[in-house]
Amino acid sequence: MSHPTGKTALVTGASRGIGRAIAERLAADGAEVAVHYGTNKEAADETVSAIRRVGGRAFPVCAELGVEGDIDRLFGELMAGLDGRPLDILVNNAAVITYEATIEQATPEQFDRLVAINVRAPFFIIQRALPILRDGGRIINISSGVTWFATPEVVYGMTKGALNVLGRSLANSLGPRGITVNTVSPGITDTEMNSWLHTNDGAISGVASMTALERVGRGADIADAVAFFASGDGRWVTGQTLEVNGGLFLGPKTPSW
Ligand SMILES: NC(=O)c1ccc[n+]([C@@H]2O[C@H](COP(=O)([O-])OP(=O)(O)OC[C@H]3O[C@@H](n4cnc5c(N)ncnc54)[C@H](OP(=O)(O)O)[C@@H]3O)[C@@H](O)[C@H]2O)c1
Repeated sequence: MSHPTGKTALVTGASRGIGRAIAERLAADGAEVAVHYGTNKEAADETVSAIRRVGGRAFPVCAELGVEGDIDRLFGELMAGLDGRPLDILVNNAAVITYEATIEQATPEQFDRLVAINVRAPFFIIQRALPILRDGGRIINISSGVTWFATPEVVYGMTKGALNVLGRSLANSLGPRGITVNTVSPGITDTEMNSWLHTNDGAISGVASMTALERVGRGADIADAVAFFASGDGRWVTGQTLEVNGGLFLGPKTPSW
């Protein structure tokens, strides 16, 4: 695969989970990575250190999303780290889920917070990034399989559906600049967002049994797909949503009749 050597990347929510795996993979491929986080400085520092330990380049970018001034703060720190260089790769990964935000229980405050972090922030991050994003650059948004399978956490699913729509439209608008826009849609992946995997007996085996490849996803499984879209080899793929889930809900393995 032709790797983004010498390029720059911003990965939001890169302190932990899938975002950390994406940051580590893009850095391993040669990009200098802006490791964005909201509040967990220790985790972000650990991601930056892990990248540097193996010879990669990274710097932290702190900005809590979904609060007043979030985009200004993020770009203030990003621009300082880039020091005049353009951005090549933008990965909108940071998001939150509120398990109580069901049709019965969601409050307007929960709804607004989910939309602010999961939809408003990526939209305005892209808007602010466009002037510094190099022609031929890459935008990758992290969505979710909950855009096509039903879950009770409907507000979270709605926010991810918005990203799928955003991706198609942006790909068309930004095509003349050679910028590709794609959406990676993880299945059930073992991160702190899914701590229920480790607190409910049978959750891990239950998820494995719903998946063709018979295990729970790992951050690196998602990061490797993102790396393809970020690479030169992804140059002719835009406006697509890729399900990266080990074959989740493909159907029964043996007929039940
Ligand atoms: N895990 C899954 O099964 C799964 C499935 C489908 C889609 N996804 C999607 O994959 C992406 C990553 O999920 P994950 O499971 O890796 O999540 P995670 O382990 O909970 O990590 C979330 C990351 O986002 C950052 N973040 C959260 N809220 C933020 C805010 N308000 N401002 C700034 N940063 C914030 C966190 O920063 P701090 O460390 O500073 O808190 C952290 O780096 C998300 O878009 C998620 O919706 C996950």
